[in-house]
Amino acid sequence: MIQETDFLVVGSGIAGLSFALKAAQQGTVAVLTKKQRAESNTNYAQGGIASVIGPDDSFDLHIRDTLTAGAGLCYRDAVELIVKNGPERLKELMDWGVQFSRKENGSLDLGREGGHSKNRIVHVSDLTGREVERALINAVKEHPNIAVYEDHVALEILTEHHLGETSEKAAKIPHAWGVYVLDADKNRVDIFLAKIVLLASGGSGHVYLHTTNPPIATGDGIAMAYRAGAWVGNLEFMQFHPTALHLPGANYYLISEAVRGFGGILRNSRGDAFMKNYHPLKELAPRDIVARAIDAELKKSGDPHVFLDVTHLNPERVKERFPNIYNFCLSLGLDLTRAQIPVVPAAHYMCGGVVTDLQARTSVSGLYASGEVACTGVHGANRLASNSLLEGLAFSHQAYLNAVEHIKTAKIPKVLHEWSEEGLVNSDEWVLISHNRVEIQTVMWDYVGIVRSNLRLERAARRMNLLLNEIEDFYKRTKVSEKLVELRNLATVAKLIIGSARYRRESRGLHFTTDYPERDDRFWKHNTFSHRDFGFVHSLPHSIVWDEDL
Ligand code: FAD
Ligand code: SIN
Repeated sequence: MIQETDFLVVGSGIAGLSFALKAAQQGTVAVLTKKQRAESNTNYAQGGIASVIGPDDSFDLHIRDTLTAGAGLCYRDAVELIVKNGPERLKELMDWGVQFSRKENGSLDLGREGGHSKNRIVHVSDLTGREVERALINAVKEHPNIAVYEDHVALEILTEHHLGETSEKAAKIPHAWGVYVLDADKNRVDIFLAKIVLLASGGSGHVYLHTTNPPIATGDGIAMAYRAGAWVGNLEFMQFHPTALHLPGANYYLISEAVRGFGGILRNSRGDAFMKNYHPLKELAPRDIVARAIDAELKKSGDPHVFLDVTHLNPERVKERFPNIYNFCLSLGLDLTRAQIPVVPAAHYMCGGVVTDLQARTSVSGLYASGEVACTGVHGANRLASNSLLEGLAFSHQAYLNAVEHIKTAKIPKVLHEWSEEGLVNSDEWVLISHNRVEIQTVMWDYVGIVRSNLRLERAARRMNLLLNEIEDFYKRTKVSEKLVELRNLATVAKLIIGSARYRRESRGLHFTTDYPERDDRFWKHNTFSHRDFGFVHSLPHSIVWDEDL
């Protein structure tokens, strides 16, 4: 089946839905989402959205905090863009129906998180993401121009390569004409053609064995864009959240950084509040520092976890501010107002992604990217807490402003290759897929985690090459399925993360290696870019040019 639409959006999180609501004023929108529409990283966001609201805060302070966390690699214009967009984008969310938590006097309640010099996290108790998704989904439902396709898995971006007649004249710069999509219910591959495509497919936490991300986060967007010929960047900077719940059945459930912002203290098994030994901001130091401090404590003690302690805080206020976290812990037999919470770091947020300019355009024409899938230059080597929902909103707005102009002259192709499964077999070897998935995740967790070394990265590279070759071979012989596509994408992203980590011969932000333990501004104060045809480089040889925060 072939479908045509003006705007094609891959993903139904904050980036995809906020774009869809705006684009629908100008044309037809199709939103593809690989599970039910609410299932996304957005839905699980706890802490909130960073924005300059309070009278003692300023854009300059938020910009400064973001640049400090980014460890010298932020693209300042992109940082300024999201920070200055904050108040307006928040107002739009409220107009779409998001009910943020307020104080008794009616003003927005502002939380605090690591790396922020002011209270500026707008939130909905500890369920911010769920409320944002609820409101966006309701608004989308009411819009006649938006069609949402659940259980539709984007497989590949259609470029010149897939166009029948024009493939001979393949352009130098590829163009996105649409997407091949697996309709998982009908087990059929459809074609969605569009004037523009927005990738808003979220993160890649499941490249690692332990992650706070829901299972949808398999890096599909990065892998698809890379195969289509887009530049990707900064993939060595995977952010590990310091505090995921370490209890049987908890599945690395996030304990929000806002709990530390509220006064929670990290302790080792001897009861020492150890963060004072690592950073003057103690529990509220930037995330990379807190995660590495926990890792160091665990290596020293051999313990399986450290503790987050809120037992000294007023229990009623804790329950009121963190009802969801409190109830989740209680469901596992832990009353956090009476006992300390066992926590470990877990993979949380991919700071790198598909490289875009300030208009959210990628290096493939007609292809935009926004949200966690994108690398806009905002986060540099480490994301400041609660800047990602804001980044998704701000860059989807930029994409919208640019795309409405672009569609005025954009065309939909008439000739193209259908997806062919001739000669392919149904897989009866699911064990290979699940085994390979765990193997990728284990290699990444053990060798490409919070602390890296040359030896570990070399070993990871050898294992991942082997795995990727096996998977590609299996993929070529087998009919497509969601699990197989995810496996291939995970392996691709894992290989790119390892390559980026090996390329950077220093420690900076989220990338720490024992072989080069210092930050080296003389040679390495630049981003890491990668392209299927050019390998790893540190500047972009095309029109997307960033001035880093030098
Ligand atoms: P997502 O919300 O992840 O949406 C991605 C969408 O793409 C999903 O609908 C998915 O099904 C779809 N998709 C993926 N692949 C395909 C495919 N192949 N085909 C079709 N559809 C596909 N950030 C903050 O700023 N503040 C917070 O408080 C905060 N808390 C967090 C708490 C948790 C537990 C987690 C996991 C993250 C948190 N983050 C937070 C990060 C933030 O939630 C995400 O970065 C952000 O929500 C990403 O939004 P997105 O729209 O880019 O992607
Ligand atoms: C949290 O609530 O700790 C998550 C915030 C974020 O990832 O930005």
